[in-house]
Amino acid sequence: MNISIILAAGEGTRMKSNIPKVMHKICGKYLIDYVLDACKGAKIEKNVIIVGHGKDKLIDNLKDESIIFREQPIYEGAPYGTGFAVMQAIDVIPDDSIVTILCGDTPLINDDTITRLIEFHRNGNYAGTVLTAILEDATGYGRIVRKESGEIDRIVEQKDANNDELKIKEVNSGMYCFNGKALKEALNKIENNNSQNEYYLTDVVSILNNEGYKVGAYTIDNHIEIYGVNTRVQLAMGEQEMRKRINQKLMLSGVTIIDPNCTYIDEDVIVGRDTIIYPGVVLEGNTIIGENCIIRGNTRIINSKIGNSVEIESSLIEESIVDDKCHLGPYAHLRPKSKLGKNIKIGNFVEIKNATLGDNTKASHLSYVGDADVGCNVNIGCGVVFVNYNGREKFRTTIEDNAFIGSNSNLVAPVHVEEWGYIAAGSTITEDVGKGDLSIARARQVNKAGWVEKKGLNKRK
Ligand code: UD1
Ligand code: CA
Repeated sequence: MNISIILAAGEGTRMKSNIPKVMHKICGKYLIDYVLDACKGAKIEKNVIIVGHGKDKLIDNLKDESIIFREQPIYEGAPYGTGFAVMQAIDVIPDDSIVTILCGDTPLINDDTITRLIEFHRNGNYAGTVLTAILEDATGYGRIVRKESGEIDRIVEQKDANNDELKIKEVNSGMYCFNGKALKEALNKIENNNSQNEYYLTDVVSILNNEGYKVGAYTIDNHIEIYGVNTRVQLAMGEQEMRKRINQKLMLSGVTIIDPNCTYIDEDVIVGRDTIIYPGVVLEGNTIIGENCIIRGNTRIINSKIGNSVEIESSLIEESIVDDKCHLGPYAHLRPKSKLGKNIKIGNFVEIKNATLGDNTKASHLSYVGDADVGCNVNIGCGVVFVNYNGREKFRTTIEDNAFIGSNSNLVAPVHVEEWGYIAAGSTITEDVGKGDLSIARARQVNKAGWVEKKGLNKRK
């Protein structure tokens, strides 16, 4: 059985945050989510997360059947260190398992790297294998000390290293594979007599060597994968790398992204072939965009589904569904639960909320359509307001197919306009409108002949 242990109990002091470090987000997902995804991709069946600082937030937010939480006691003067963290999982490590240890703050690790690490570990019959990388600047990392034979001897932490050891460029990624039984034996022998008085997981390497076990080191070239997030500056760099990966994957799948450095797409977003995305676009959450769409600058789409051949310009779309061939914007706002049929036009400064609009309907300028069921081929004139709120309750409006709602009308809900109903501009509609009826609800115009001259208002001062 393959299991992982993901370390996430640390305080993350350098983030200067009230949120646990591994719950900071890049490209819309928690740092630790990427580590969990990589484990899933590497076919690891069970994930043990070691929690401590901010544990409640983590446990509440990470719900998955594959996850087991183990708590590291956190109190003034409590034992500390990566070794102590892993000890908390001893009871869930089967003797015959392969245990992959990862950190919750290294989101850039790829699943195929984990797969290859496990393979290397298994094929080499090692009891433990360390994932290493060669870095020009190894500052901060534990250094890999090798024997004359070339095999790994031990890991020395920066703070405990002598001058010769500090010159070593091969570093410990903080990721490992162990055989369950050997790991448990070694954990019981770790001590904290080092410069930080911590229980170092890294000591497991020398312990296994001393016990006569075979220990391996698997070196990767792509060292960005071991990149850890400790500060907000590193968080932004992690985001940049992840954004690059997401955008590259989309471009290689047939999406045009005009400027990938200025296009912000979350991990789980799906975009269809031949869609063109302009700079400044933000696509969030579980958004799905169809094929042949054009999404222009400063559009933000959150958890929404957009059909094929849709054009959107400078608009905000939240939790809504838009069918094929619609035109939105500039400056349209679809609030949650808006559902647009095909070939709909939502123009400048139009707001839609919790409303369904049928095919070919248009609201081209300056309208509010809230809590409504609107049919097909309806024309909603400029400045129409669906008056859905009386200060206490909300009501729905129903407009049937082919109705015409003249400009600057108010539809005071609940109200029902039947098929081909026709509302004159400037009407305030409080009663239902029958099929094919014209409804005018405004004062009749009065023209007073010669009034201006009579009042002497035609002479300017
Ligand atoms: C560790 C390694 C170092 C390696 C580096 C790679 C040790 C002793 N050192 O150092 O060789 O080069 O990672 O990034 O392991 N954590 C807990 N409980 C604890 C302490 C830490 O859960 O008591 C978690 C942290 O939340 C973090 C991870 O373990 O996710 C690593 O801890 P950190 O203190 O950052 O280790 P480094 O000093 O970076
Ligand atoms: Ca540390």
